[in-house]
Amino acid sequence: MQLTINNRRITTEKGKTLLEACREADIFVPTLCYDERLESYGGCRLCLVEIQGVARPLAACTTPAEEGMTVLTESETLTRLRKTTLSLILSNHPNDCMCCDNAGDCALQELAYLYDVKPGRYEGERWDLPIREDNPFITFEPNKCISCSRCTRICNDVVMAGTIEMTGRGFYTMPDTAFNKPRSLKNCEFCGQCVSTCPTGALTDKKGRHKGRSHDVTKVKTTCSYCGTGCNFYLHVKDKKVIKVSSDYEAPVNQGNLCIKGRYGYDFIHSPERLKTPLIKKDGVFHEATWDEALEFVATKFRELIAKHGPEKVGGFSSSRCTNEENYLLSKWVRCAVGSNNVDNCARV
Ligand code: FES
Repeated sequence: MQLTINNRRITTEKGKTLLEACREADIFVPTLCYDERLESYGGCRLCLVEIQGVARPLAACTTPAEEGMTVLTESETLTRLRKTTLSLILSNHPNDCMCCDNAGDCALQELAYLYDVKPGRYEGERWDLPIREDNPFITFEPNKCISCSRCTRICNDVVMAGTIEMTGRGFYTMPDTAFNKPRSLKNCEFCGQCVSTCPTGALTDKKGRHKGRSHDVTKVKTTCSYCGTGCNFYLHVKDKKVIKVSSDYEAPVNQGNLCIKGRYGYDFIHSPERLKTPLIKKDGVFHEATWDEALEFVATKFRELIAKHGPEKVGGFSSSRCTNEENYLLSKWVRCAVGSNNVDNCARV
């Protein structure tokens, strides 16, 4: 299917939206309520585009691309509309980018900068609600919420936890738990998916707050070590310390989605109880050893066991927390070095 966007001939598949067609062609369209993990919602109206023969601009995220369409993603009219929408959002926003944890990683801040929109164009009532810190993992600053509903949609449609929903009406619309109860393990999985999709600093990871912003950290891509799924994510490292985990939307395995362990279970990295050297137990007491000493000790014990009982009495049981390569090596070692076919893995069943 072919259409024309910004005077360029674009080819896309039937069933794609205009926003998807633009993204495939590297054409920027501003969005706030869109997350490719979610069904399009059409709430923020930032992605409006002009379509030849259509009287009013339409939201690109909810409009299907059609054969022969002629579309403009930038025009004076669209810029004016986007500026007005952003001005309205900023009219009820703290605009405290100087001390906001999400500064530098905030879609609203980026778009206000891009369209040169400053606070103050519209005056009126503003939210002045307390910060919610009523759970161990997620901080909610309602004053920064722009009611895009990405958090409630990801909670309901992707996680299927149903922890939060849009509550209230009109000016008082707000994502919240049923009966405004604090989040706890009874009503929330603490997967942080809501935090991952929030386009502003309304939902943030409590553990990483005020420890460093996006420009302060080095992002290191890694694979979760908690189970065999192999989810990818980014560790945010500052001063050699991991201060936060964020989603990797390109990861084929998890596409930006994570569970509580992947997103918040990183304290073990810097735990003082973590073993840093091998230990050998002598007379019931562990003693620190070098790797050479430890490997020689283990090899000697295995040789003794095999000589005494035969190789078939030895087996290797590997873990899905290890990489494929490590599991392969264990299998190779048991089969070739030990001479046994007793190899298994906890993920086999
Ligand atoms: Fe299309 Fe928000 S991204 S309306």
